[in-house]
Amino acid sequence: MAIPDRNLALELVRVTETAALAAAPWVGRGDKDQADGAAVAAMRAMINTVDMNGTVVIGEGEKDNAPMLHNGESVGNGEGPDCDVAVDPIDGTSLTAQGMNGAISVIALAPRGTMYDPRESFYMNKIVTGPEAAALIDIQASVSENLKRVAQAKELDISDLTVVVLNRPRHENLIAEIRSAGARIRLIQDGDVAAAIETAIPGSGIDLLMGIGGTPEGVITAAAMICLGGSIQGQLYNDGKSEVKVLTTRDLCNSDDVFLSATGITDGELINGIRYTPYGAISHSIVMRGKSKTLRKIVTQHHLK
Ligand code: FBP
Repeated sequence: MAIPDRNLALELVRVTETAALAAAPWVGRGDKDQADGAAVAAMRAMINTVDMNGTVVIGEGEKDNAPMLHNGESVGNGEGPDCDVAVDPIDGTSLTAQGMNGAISVIALAPRGTMYDPRESFYMNKIVTGPEAAALIDIQASVSENLKRVAQAKELDISDLTVVVLNRPRHENLIAEIRSAGARIRLIQDGDVAAAIETAIPGSGIDLLMGIGGTPEGVITAAAMICLGGSIQGQLYNDGKSEVKVLTTRDLCNSDDVFLSATGITDGELINGIRYTPYGAISHSIVMRGKSKTLRKIVTQHHLK
């Protein structure tokens, strides 16, 4: 098997840029299906220019429901390394439709066979944090114990910590536990990949992400944590219950040889969205590589006219 050696993230940025540019005209128009359809079609056209022999492990679903970027689909030009590919042309389709902050387009690559295949599992209970406390979090321990460990590792008080939680009724107890332990909460409406990445960006003001979100988003988060030195732990969540088995970062993505690119669709804390200019548009992206642990911020001017 060929080993990815070049920084493919620098090619992948064109893929997420294209998807974000295609989604941007739909921002605030109230139609998430049109936004998603435009992003998927654009991403698919560009992904096939990347030097890889990719198989979509995390895509838009099974072939019958998803004509494009479906699970199992071959992507790339077939000339590079054998890769597993995770795509989320829009993480935050509702945010995009409502013109709200935090929607991104994201793609991650890892060597073939190293990405966790979520199959039928839609939801995962997650805890995510950056490098300082990466080895200390434990999803089976209490919320207050986890907050204590992260605060100690960062030499902060629990009251200094900010935890991101998806604003969902299912998180009522979690929110109460975080508050009673003394930490602050940032509720987000959608888009837990960008929020999870923020936990591992120095100075972001976000220390942890906790709660139940998408399983595919959990796998993409694992790829990001490998690049950033953070960690995620997850438990699949079905019928209102978390499974006992804990999935670690490595269970979700078992290689350092990973690449990730994310481009903002709407503005966000992590990256800004697409901005129109008299000549076209400007996009903002971050690209990461697991082996070198590089994170690049890329601002691109697109001449669309
Ligand atoms: P989509 O953009 O694919 O709808 O995902 C948005 C999202 O907020 C994810 O970031 C998150 O993991 C998941 O949905 C949470 O699921 P739900 O909205 O069902 O609580």
